[in-house]
Amino acid sequence: MRVEGMTRSSRFEGFYKLPLEKRREALKEFASLTDEEVKTLANTGGLPAEVADHMIENVIGGYTYPLGIAMNFRINGKDYLVPFALEEPSVVAAASNAAKMARVKGGFTVTNTGPVMIGQIQAVNVPKPDTAKAKLLAHKAELLKKANDQDPMLVSLGGGAKDLNVKKLSTLKGPMVVVELIVNTGDAMGANAVNTMAEALTPMVEEITGGRVLLRIISNLADRRLVKATAVFDKETIGGEDVVDGIVYAYAFADADPHRCATHNKGIMNGVIAVGIACGQDIRALEAGAHSYASRSGHYKPLTTWEKNREGDLVGTLEMPMAVGLVGGAAKTHPTARANIKILGVKSAIELAEVMGAVGLAQNFAALRALASEGIQRGHMKLHSRNIAISAGATGDLIDMVATRMIVEKRVRFDRAKELIDELTKLKS
Ligand code: MEV
Repeated sequence: MRVEGMTRSSRFEGFYKLPLEKRREALKEFASLTDEEVKTLANTGGLPAEVADHMIENVIGGYTYPLGIAMNFRINGKDYLVPFALEEPSVVAAASNAAKMARVKGGFTVTNTGPVMIGQIQAVNVPKPDTAKAKLLAHKAELLKKANDQDPMLVSLGGGAKDLNVKKLSTLKGPMVVVELIVNTGDAMGANAVNTMAEALTPMVEEITGGRVLLRIISNLADRRLVKATAVFDKETIGGEDVVDGIVYAYAFADADPHRCATHNKGIMNGVIAVGIACGQDIRALEAGAHSYASRSGHYKPLTTWEKNREGDLVGTLEMPMAVGLVGGAAKTHPTARANIKILGVKSAIELAEVMGAVGLAQNFAALRALASEGIQRGHMKLHSRNIAISAGATGDLIDMVATRMIVEKRVRFDRAKELIDELTKLKS
């Protein structure tokens, strides 16, 4: 990492052994950081530096997102204030507004299929795959017992390995046998529990199949851990029949076209991921689950459906995997995540999953309603232009003055913000 002439080397022996302070010093030299920049990087926000240092490797500091609260959510008859951590303007306001409209017809109804994950064990070079498959199924009870021996605590809480399937796959490298362990992970997201169980079965699977076990890992296509959210939106409340029809057309577009569908589903994930970050969840797992589930038919499809009911109201449904947990991981170790879970007031992983399902549906409704009427730019521009004003150096009253002028002039640009700051500062003095 030392600066050698003009070249910078990324090879640095023992960076991980240094205390945080020294790591930052090394980085300061590497990237010619200013003292101010080093101070910014060192700020770990609500996460104590020692905790951060044990969460990942080579920690140098923290990275903070704005944390906002989406209001008005009524889910399964209970009211929630929902913490969102994200950088994108309009998302929190859109969710709050959608939730307010959903309340008119009772809010969101959400069900779930239970906290069930799948662990996969890949066996290769299996001499007789069909026989191996039958033998594995015949040894199901012993395999499940071995898996459950790994986590007596989970089992005592009613969770654990409940079932086992075996698949024979034709692959690029010939036939393979894959054991799928079906595990109720309770209030945990479950990756640790499932991976430990899958690894523990290695010797038994090798002995039974006569093959070699390679991968043993959870599947993020969590299609046994689904949430299903529905809501009815009153036609008058949302702007009349045209808006209802517009949203149904928007859904039909996403259903027919993957380019549109990716953006449709992205809008859903705006809310799901923001709540996931706020509550310390593995958001990569949530994304992987969502998009693989959306593709399960062989075509990439929307995670929601929208239709008009007999009364002319709009009915939305969302169905997607939601692998979230309250025990283990950042949900427990990150103080901000813990506080956010307390704000939400959820008592179980499935309750958190249900809230996130409702949020996804609300977010999708808000996006489609805006897109099918005035478009999203007007709302976006308000916040965007405030951000531009701040980044150009506006403070205090100047932020709104500069932002409003840029919107009126339809010139929301950094250079214009600078000019306006100069102009308005001169006028004020
Ligand atoms: C922007 O972050 C999300 C939207 O593009 C979603 C959509 O198009 O449905 C507005």
